Amino acid sequence: MKRNSGRLQAGEAVLFIDRKQREYMRQLAPGKRIHIRNGFFWADHLIGLAEGHTVYNSAGEAFVLVRPTIAQFIPNLPRQAQPIYPKDIGPILLWGDFFPGAHVVEIGVGPGALSMGILQAIGPEGRLVSYEVRSDFAARARQNVELLLGPVPHWQLKQADAFAGIEERNVDRAVIDLPEPWLLLAQVAAALRPGGVLVSYLPTVLQVKELVDQMRSGAEFGLVQVFELLQRFWHVEERSMRPEHRMVAHTGFIVTARRLAHLPGPGATAPPLR
Ligand SMILES: C[S@@+](CC[C@H](N)C(=O)[O-])C[C@H]1O[C@@H](n2cnc3c(N)ncnc32)[C@H](O)[C@@H]1O
Repeated sequence: MKRNSGRLQAGEAVLFIDRKQREYMRQLAPGKRIHIRNGFFWADHLIGLAEGHTVYNSAGEAFVLVRPTIAQFIPNLPRQAQPIYPKDIGPILLWGDFFPGAHVVEIGVGPGALSMGILQAIGPEGRLVSYEVRSDFAARARQNVELLLGPVPHWQLKQADAFAGIEERNVDRAVIDLPEPWLLLAQVAAALRPGGVLVSYLPTVLQVKELVDQMRSGAEFGLVQVFELLQRFWHVEERSMRPEHRMVAHTGFIVTARRLAHLPGPGATAPPLR
């Protein structure tokens, strides 16, 4: 796994940004034309440039040419399923404490947006096992992830129904992004080590209520926290400093919980609670 940093290479994803800050993500396919708005570029003329050049299409329109950051890459992904957006991926990675070297299970891959965030966070010493029930989604997710990160040997993408069983054990972190995560609590509890963190991402508050109720009615999970993030961009020009007129008001709720351990049962010699 390696993000490129030198001159632009054949096959890479690049971002063309016009003077109105509109983004056009394209791949540098050798020998091909890249059509943007009313003009085009020859990819061969761009391969080998440094990032940050201003380039002009055949119609004379100017664009700044850069590699996308992960936050720019995700909203520009081709996708069939709804990804988690960067504003939520950042906090998920921090509040879920996805550390370098962690062993992680992910349920529900979709276009692979969260997968790429996790893979970057855990690094090549970590291990991510992801379950995706649809083979077409799994194939697209692998393409998306490898376009940004290159080959990812520390990622095992299983085309499988998570409800049929989660095989991993003693994992550090688990994340569920599908509509009824409470139906997977027993499976995830068996997979997580004591102290491990479960993160779930849910669009509606009724789902949050169901999940939290189910966690509280069992003994496996505790220290539950629920939050959401609002992100408001600002328009900053010489004579005009104000919030953007539009914002994404709601995406989803983030629920985190810890896998609890149990003291030995009656009859065993347990250390005193402190
Ligand atoms: C909302 S998408 C996940 C998006 C992803 N977190 C991202 O950031 O790109 C939910 C995914 O869960 C998958 N899914 C639904 N039920 C599943 C199951 N039982 N086992 C595995 N995957 C499942 C769907 O096919 C879909 O791709």
